[in-house]
Amino acid sequence: MDGLRVLELYSGIGGMHYALKESGVMAEVVAAVDVNTTANHIYKHNFPNTTLLPKTIEGITINEFDKLGFDMILMSPPCQPFTRIGLQGDVSDPRAKSFLYILDLLPRLSKLPRFILLENVKGFETSSARDALLKTLRDCGYSFQELLLTPTCLGIPNSRLRYFLIAKAPPDSFTFQISSEILESFPSSSGNYASSETTMVPDCPSESLDSTNGEDGTILYKLETAQDAHRKMGQNSDESVRRIQEFLEVQEEDGGDMEQYLLPPKTLLRYALLMDIVRPTCRRSVCFTKGYGHYVEGTGSVLHSCVEEDMEEAFRSLELQPDEEKLRRLKRLKLRYFTPREIANLMGFPADFTFPEDVSVKQCYRVLGNSLNVHVVAQLIKVMLS
Ligand SMILES: C[S@@+](CC[C@H](N)C(=O)[O-])C[C@H]1O[C@@H](n2cnc3c(N)ncnc32)[C@H](O)[C@@H]1O
Repeated sequence: MDGLRVLELYSGIGGMHYALKESGVMAEVVAAVDVNTTANHIYKHNFPNTTLLPKTIEGITINEFDKLGFDMILMSPPCQPFTRIGLQGDVSDPRAKSFLYILDLLPRLSKLPRFILLENVKGFETSSARDALLKTLRDCGYSFQELLLTPTCLGIPNSRLRYFLIAKAPPDSFTFQISSEILESFPSSSGNYASSETTMVPDCPSESLDSTNGEDGTILYKLETAQDAHRKMGQNSDESVRRIQEFLEVQEEDGGDMEQYLLPPKTLLRYALLMDIVRPTCRRSVCFTKGYGHYVEGTGSVLHSCVEEDMEEAFRSLELQPDEEKLRRLKRLKLRYFTPREIANLMGFPADFTFPEDVSVKQCYRVLGNSLNVHVVAQLIKVMLS
């Protein structure tokens, strides 16, 4: 299986390229395509020798694609048309146009790519874009498998539930029994599905943030449902998942210049009760999205970095306190954002992945939020090629 030629579409910061490297497959990215200037700048910085086409996919002709002579497509189409929080325009959303262009093009290529891997948000599986994808693959004779996977099933303390599809062109077929069901764990080549002891948990913010009331009606802790609190406790006691501290840039006791990542007073006062807060010893964090560091609610976990300070104590009857007291208590916890490097660590980017110096922290969060978990995709590439 040597020397595969890979086309990386919607390449962003190169999550797919890193996954390909991690998979150990002998392959070369013959071209990466993306229109985003910042993402392309970061991609070029890390992969200076890869041909990067800074243009729209629909601006590339079938002849140009044919000339690239690729055996594999790795792609993460823009997810906004399919996200649950988006307007869900699906195929009518102009951002789905390039994807429909690819589907139209695929059967007309001079040679069908042998392998296709697609990543998208949860929600894609119920879209008509997915129906169109499956129809195209069936028409071309591909065998394929759909999956919904989150990094916690690889022991990574971060939820990022995503839709994946892996496909093989005829005459190749998979070494495991494919299913029309969407798998929720990695298939194993023995024919069975690898068991996953980790429960699949949705990584979106809970839709109803009821307060957890004590018998006297006071809020016990934070604004979260009893169900959420229970789920988080379960996640934290799952020893098959590593601790957050392994992914941090510095051990908190060493200090380190984390001032710039501390949550500002306004944010603390306004959102403290709604934030997903984790400690270094936790075995969970929620999905980091592109609004991280900008919008607080539902964009990713924040870190309780001063662990000597008791969080429950700080939050006790917090809503009843005057702002000054609220702030005094909250500041002691040293709640901070994860740094871009830490998020990159959780998302499986290797140590040699770096951001160019002229990219702002906000831009880093944005492109990371759009990217993918490298380890999950690396495993899937291995499964696809086995
Ligand atoms: C979900 S992100 C993919 C991220 C990528 N997998 C990574 O690891 O960073 C989608 C990417 O598609 C790019 N994109 C959206 N529409 C495009 C189009 N019509 N042509 C080329 N790139 C496009 C966006 O700029 C964005 O970087």
